[in-house]
Amino acid sequence: MNFKIRPATKQDCKEISRMIMELAVYENMSDQVKISHEELERDGFCQNPFFECLIAEVPEEHKSKEGFTIVGYAFYFYTYSTWKGRSQYLEDLYVMPEFRGNGIGKALLSKVTEVGKNKGCVRLQLSVLNWNTPSLDFYAAKGAQDLTVSEGWHFIRFDGKHLDDLAKGAPKN
Ligand SMILES: CC(C)(COP(=O)(O)OP(=O)(O)OC[C@H]1O[C@@H](n2cnc3c(N)ncnc32)[C@H](O)[C@@H]1OP(=O)(O)O)[C@@H](O)C(=O)NCCC(=O)NCCS
Repeated sequence: MNFKIRPATKQDCKEISRMIMELAVYENMSDQVKISHEELERDGFCQNPFFECLIAEVPEEHKSKEGFTIVGYAFYFYTYSTWKGRSQYLEDLYVMPEFRGNGIGKALLSKVTEVGKNKGCVRLQLSVLNWNTPSLDFYAAKGAQDLTVSEGWHFIRFDGKHLDDLAKGAPKN
């Protein structure tokens, strides 16, 4: 199938927002999605963007049943390893179900790493839910290590009240 991978523009944020929700539904966590397309526009298309996004687009003649031509995305940002230096974190990789198996996921992943390597990044990290074996297999087939298995890392998060409490406890001087 014919498709192209390109950097997202501000105008794509509604479509990215739609696919973020589709991915969250697939992950059985749609109730956790609080982001709006306006926030994506603000945070991804400002002077110091918080994220970058690539989208996969098919020609009109291959549009989805619902009429969408933007059919996948890769959403990532830059992090830093005190051991290795410049790094990327892949927050989301998604291809709409009817377009899977056409090389779009692989093309998005390759393009993210190409962008990163051009900026001197030496690693790409991401997290996958433990039941999502198709995606674990997809990444493993591309050579990814499962760090939970090989090194025992846990994925830790602060948010809500616990985050507020920590921030309130910061020294004021
Ligand atoms: C994971 C995902 C992005 C792959 O996209 P895709 O467009 O279907 O993948 P591709 O067609 O590019 O497949 C690329 C390669 O992976 C292989 N592959 C694809 N799905 C696979 C699967 N479920 N298990 C094993 N291998 C798989 C293909 O055979 C192909 O192999 P090749 O490079 O040797 O030819 C897509 O299935 C998806 O959106 N899944 C749901 C969302 C998700 O779980 N995202 C990841 C978590 S953030």
